[in-house]
Amino acid sequence: MKVLVIGKGGREHAIAHAASKSPLVDQLYAAPGNPGTAQIAENVAISDSDVEGLLRFAKEKAIDLTIVGPEHTLALGVVDAFEKEGLKIFGPTKAAAQVESSKEFAKKIMMKYGIPTAAYQSFENKEEAIAYVKEQGAPIVVKEDGLKAGKGVTVAQSVEEATEALEIAFAQEGGKVVIEECLRGFEFSLICFVCNETVIPMEIAQDHKCAYDGDQGPNTGGMGVYSPVRRITPEIIEETMKTIMRPMAHAMVQEGVPFTGFLYGGLMLTENGVKTIEFNARFGDPEAEVILPRLKSDFVDVIQQVMAQQECKLDWSDDVTLGVVLASAGYPASSTKGAVIKGLDALDAQVYHMGTAMKDGELVTDGGRVLIVVTQAKTLEEAYAKTYAEIKKIDCDCLFYRNDIGKKDMN
Ligand code: AMP
Ligand code: GLY
Repeated sequence: MKVLVIGKGGREHAIAHAASKSPLVDQLYAAPGNPGTAQIAENVAISDSDVEGLLRFAKEKAIDLTIVGPEHTLALGVVDAFEKEGLKIFGPTKAAAQVESSKEFAKKIMMKYGIPTAAYQSFENKEEAIAYVKEQGAPIVVKEDGLKAGKGVTVAQSVEEATEALEIAFAQEGGKVVIEECLRGFEFSLICFVCNETVIPMEIAQDHKCAYDGDQGPNTGGMGVYSPVRRITPEIIEETMKTIMRPMAHAMVQEGVPFTGFLYGGLMLTENGVKTIEFNARFGDPEAEVILPRLKSDFVDVIQQVMAQQECKLDWSDDVTLGVVLASAGYPASSTKGAVIKGLDALDAQVYHMGTAMKDGELVTDGGRVLIVVTQAKTLEEAYAKTYAEIKKIDCDCLFYRNDIGKKDMN
């Protein structure tokens, strides 16, 4: 098979890595890919926003299967365009991708089908939004509508903080927000392979969204992650599948927007059971970087079976994977580019490239989140020790990372 992976981050590096292990794959392309995917696939210089260019390439090369990484490519309608030309592509249509791109679309379906989630109200008027926050009190959550790469969310601990977030949201053109009840509990991610009503769960991962140790600082795209998550037992997973993931796939079929692709449940284990924080229309990043290395089944074969709507059982390694993100100084507010990274060859770990580039023959930083270092071990404690020991071998003075990934789940 000829397989194309669309995207250029750590998630796409992990997806390409999993696909590269499949005996079904003869030729693997990444568009545009990154210096990491270049080691396992052929990078093609087509932007992940250039739907026409991607389509032309896939037709020209007679690509048998395309796997979409990023949400913005989905929101641009890449799946609709490929399907129209009869090309096989794993991802949701533009309409189905709204489960992520529009908070309101997702909330309306959850309410209609009784899928547990935080109470909410949406606003297009700043004064009304501020009045609502004052009436509800803190803590309260303010979310800008639309794709924000995990950054348009403020979990406000005071009315003042919420008001400030509203001022920022409404200062933008066409400002629209969703204000939500603040859920308390233990957060986890459950990602499923989905095609219509076929829903196959993967193993659980826990992301760390805040920039700094102790869950302090601004929300980011994710600073570190591990899998599996001890506290999320098979019973809890079954409850989540029964009350959230399968009902959502069913609801989308009922609503005429059937979902194909990776359906990501951002979930909270609360005192009153599991509740949905959000759905994403694609694999999590950095979740993919710790979940996929544990998958022993043939990744490409699984996607094909799911697309044929066949139930299949996934085979997983019992090991724990733990990944720590190295981000550019200043992330998420700003980021520096072009700092030289040395020492990666010495690492006894899987390193996925999130935001790197080659410049004058050297690897340099090229974005907010730069690398994720992942190791695998028998226990979470061992994986923690191993990943942090390996990170120390990286030589770059413009990077920072959290020191407490996985700590909350240790005894
Ligand atoms: P989202 O972009 O919706 O995933 O939100 C980013 C992060 O904000 C989540 O991963 C949670 O940690 C937090 N968050 C979002 N919504 C809520 C909520 N209703 N209650 C508590 N925390 C939330
Ligand atoms: N890790 C969070 C996300 O991919 O949205």
